[in-house]
Amino acid sequence: MEIERIAVIGGGTMGNGIAHVAAKFGMQVTLCDVSAECVQRALATIEKNLGREVSKGKLDAEAAQAALQRIQPATDLARAADAQVVIEAVPERRELKLDLFRKLDALAEPATIFASNTSSISITEMAAVTARPDRFIGMHFMNPVPVMTLVEVIRGIATSDATTAQVMALAGRMEKTAVEVNDYPGFVSNRVLMPMINEAIYCVMESVATAEAIDEVMKLGMNHPMGPLTLADFIGLDVCLHIMDVLYQGFQDSKYRACPLLRKMVAAGWLGRKSGRGFYQY
Ligand code: CAA
Repeated sequence: MEIERIAVIGGGTMGNGIAHVAAKFGMQVTLCDVSAECVQRALATIEKNLGREVSKGKLDAEAAQAALQRIQPATDLARAADAQVVIEAVPERRELKLDLFRKLDALAEPATIFASNTSSISITEMAAVTARPDRFIGMHFMNPVPVMTLVEVIRGIATSDATTAQVMALAGRMEKTAVEVNDYPGFVSNRVLMPMINEAIYCVMESVATAEAIDEVMKLGMNHPMGPLTLADFIGLDVCLHIMDVLYQGFQDSKYRACPLLRKMVAAGWLGRKSGRGFYQY
């Protein structure tokens, strides 16, 4: 069965990127957020980002307009009920997600697949609050969604082969490369990425080198497009800390302890790009 109708819950950075890409590749998208203002902001961002592709000659203006028209704004969760796949991209708080999936489970068709864009919360645990753990999966997009080609597809303990196949195909329709992994803390992406970022922060704390020097080493020496500290600011230092804490708690292994400097910066409200200050000033 071809997926034609999806719903995206949450219009923040990840949610609007997912809606953008799905609509661009022909799917009907219901984009749901808590207020009309939030959904309108998400639509304005999508319009701006589609415009970038138009100005680079990667998309024609009519196709961008048609993509925008395929996105239906909504503030009532019930509007997601008839989607074939619901992709959740609400803020990374466990209770918020569990509560949302309980509500969605009561509203959505039994056949609807639930996918979470969580970067670190257990897929198995979220699936367990629904009556459809076999139709529950992780679809972890990378930021910026319109540009990054990976979708990490995470199978919970009960996710069926059929659900996995449908979601892998959906990612393919969005012209992403889907990579299947199993549900363990941090999956693969953040289990490998975050300890590297955390170690870079230890290097700052211990005055091994300046943030600029550390980023330069990783950019020029390892061909990373952004140094780890620029990337940490881009992701959000609060998000990085949260993921380190998930790894630490999930594995009960001290090798995942968050760097005290990261904790201190988050306590100060230095969250990276979004707050205007992190390892760099914006
Ligand atoms: N929508 C559409 N297009 C966009 C865009 C957006 N939101 N953002 C950037 N672009 C396009 C630009 O128009 C540009 O297009 P061209 O190549 O045609 O010129 C292209 O993307 C590159 O953008 P820029 O030229 O502005 O900047 P850049 O070359 O420095 O690249 C970057 C920016 C793509 C972000 C690059 O620095 C990069 O790949 N950084 C690493 C990003 C990364 O690691 N992301 C994963 C973060 S981890 C995560 O998301 C998961 C998690 O759980 C924490």
